[in-house]
Amino acid sequence: MKIDSITENFGAVVTDVALNDLSDEDFHGIEQAWFTYGVLVFPRQHLTNEDHFAFSRRFGRLEKGLPHINMKMRPSIGNTDNEGNVLPPKHVGRVFNIGNSLWHSDSSYKRVGAKASLLAAHEVPSEGGETEWADMRAGYDALSSDVKNYLSDKIAVHSYAFSHSWHYGLQVMPEEGLRQLPPVKHPLVKIHPDSKRHVLFVGRHASHIIGEDFTSSRKLLRELTFEAAQPPRTFGHQWDVGDIVMWDNRCVLHRARASPPDQPRKMVRSTVAGDVPDNEWAVIEAA
Ligand code: OGA
Ligand code: MN
Repeated sequence: MKIDSITENFGAVVTDVALNDLSDEDFHGIEQAWFTYGVLVFPRQHLTNEDHFAFSRRFGRLEKGLPHINMKMRPSIGNTDNEGNVLPPKHVGRVFNIGNSLWHSDSSYKRVGAKASLLAAHEVPSEGGETEWADMRAGYDALSSDVKNYLSDKIAVHSYAFSHSWHYGLQVMPEEGLRQLPPVKHPLVKIHPDSKRHVLFVGRHASHIIGEDFTSSRKLLRELTFEAAQPPRTFGHQWDVGDIVMWDNRCVLHRARASPPDQPRKMVRSTVAGDVPDNEWAVIEAA
């Protein structure tokens, strides 16, 4: 197995390994590299969905899907239905994915956000459609000591209703689903449980800061996200079919770049739930 770093701060490409036939030793090496680099790119693995999910499962319990009434509304990530047909531009399933173009941490609108996301490319457009990541450990390190001090005890409210409220006025989730996703709180500065590094925890689901003026704290959150997610703390990946990338939502943000709307971009994602024992979003498996 070969691990080559992508930027000075984070990201690595892992080659000479088959994720569907992984020794415990190589798994351990991958896990350690993931703690170090935050994002691991595995080119052209061509995993079946079954192998994709089995590999994900080695990092912890998977996360439950969202409480949609009709799960068929939600196609795979990208712009297609589950069969790979390009959806009309205002189809609710496609509109749902528009938010992916803004910097975010998956499931930060949940009480316990996602640990890992593993995204695999099944169909790729001829151009565009890159995914980008931003290192929020380096983002924190780059803050002035005044800002670090100011943020040290601040709590942000993250809200699904807030971050999904603007989709062409289309309600992407029924009321009863929204009721299961009440706003939650996350400290703006977290200590990563594995690397112990400070992390600036922001992104598009962060609505405002508790105890601060609503409007100006909303503006500050946007500015913090914007400033942190700048080079040299970012990199992008141009997908080839069969690539799979795993990232750590506890210390990186990500976003999708635009691609020609009429060309299929079919991606499949699994999500590893945050590993606290009482995580209500973790899938409970039959013994
Ligand atoms: C996601 C996501 C980005 C992309 O799957 O959570 O944000 O490039 N995807 O599709
Ligand atoms: Mn995402």
